Amino acid sequence: MFRPGSDAVRQGLDMARYLVTGGAGFVGSHAVLALLDRGDEVVVLDDLSQGHRAAVPAGATLVQAQLSDRAELARVFANWRFDAVLHFAALSLVGESMKSPMHYLAENLGNSVRLIEAAVEAGCLRFVLSSTAALFGKPERIPIDEDCPVAPGNPYGESKLMVETALAWAESIHGLRYAALRYFNAAGSDPAGRAGEDHNPETHLVPLAIDAALGRRPALTVFGDDYPTPDGTCIRDYVHVTDLADAHLRVLTRLETHGSCRYNIGNGEGHSVKQVLGAIERVSGRAVPHSIGPRRAGDPAVLVAASERLRRETGWAPRFGDIDKIVRTTWAWREAHPKGYGDR
Ligand code: UFG
Repeated sequence: MFRPGSDAVRQGLDMARYLVTGGAGFVGSHAVLALLDRGDEVVVLDDLSQGHRAAVPAGATLVQAQLSDRAELARVFANWRFDAVLHFAALSLVGESMKSPMHYLAENLGNSVRLIEAAVEAGCLRFVLSSTAALFGKPERIPIDEDCPVAPGNPYGESKLMVETALAWAESIHGLRYAALRYFNAAGSDPAGRAGEDHNPETHLVPLAIDAALGRRPALTVFGDDYPTPDGTCIRDYVHVTDLADAHLRVLTRLETHGSCRYNIGNGEGHSVKQVLGAIERVSGRAVPHSIGPRRAGDPAVLVAASERLRRETGWAPRFGDIDKIVRTTWAWREAHPKGYGDR
């Protein structure tokens, strides 16, 4: 019987097959594009609760299922032989996690543990985790390198730290090799316009500010201008989602010859909220209507990554690190897709 992924079928082909959970979401869909672009085969597992069917490119197979469904997970791993799992599916809103902490811990940890277990049982011993800068809470030093102490300031960050710990146990007991990629502020859109950012509700600065400039939303509220930064607004390290996707490809290659790794991923350059608004005005020629509001609970003043380890060990170098490129690609996608993927 034909079984996709059997050695006979794969022999001689310089390609791999990956399971991508959350591949219909923002970062996941861009990673799927990057894998397909280099000729790999992709199975997306997504329950479409936050992701979008239209975000899954035609070249990928979509399995609509929940990670809580053990039987479905077992079926997926029995149907295909994967070279690695890329795990993006998660609840990821810091503010929401402060309101429903147990829900966040249970969902993110429980789903990840089931997925790790299913991968190990199927003999798939390569795993890339979408992790977060939220592990670092209010960081001890800036820029934040991988040796900075972790101390999550919210249940979302805590849940990702727990998953990293689960992976470390799977490594020491089952020989799983993993990469934990701690993203800073993912932003931007596929430069070819094939995918973009469409959250519901949208909470992120760049899409909200662009929509305000396009007149599709009310004026943006800047959350505080009394931080200890040069212009008083929070500084973040915005990293283009296509550069993030490229980091995934590189760590997949590295995992073939090296052990597990943890990387902080950002451009190493911070931009304040006001600087981001300035970039939008520069790129679009339109003003971003905004007002200054109170601080948002839990926002650290400055988060900037030190990504030297990723650069040194994988050759990663951001191609879209410039804030104007991040804004330009986001603007283009939002202008072309006034309703996002149009399914909400
Ligand atoms: N901001 C505003 N007004 C808004 C929205 C955001 O002023 O309407 C500000 C925030 O206060 C913050 C900056 O813009 O200073 C960026 O905020 P985002 O909500 O876009 O992103 P966060 O930095 O809060 O969070 C992102 C991811 C998290 C991740 C975190 C790690 O969304 O999942 O980065 O740094 F944990």
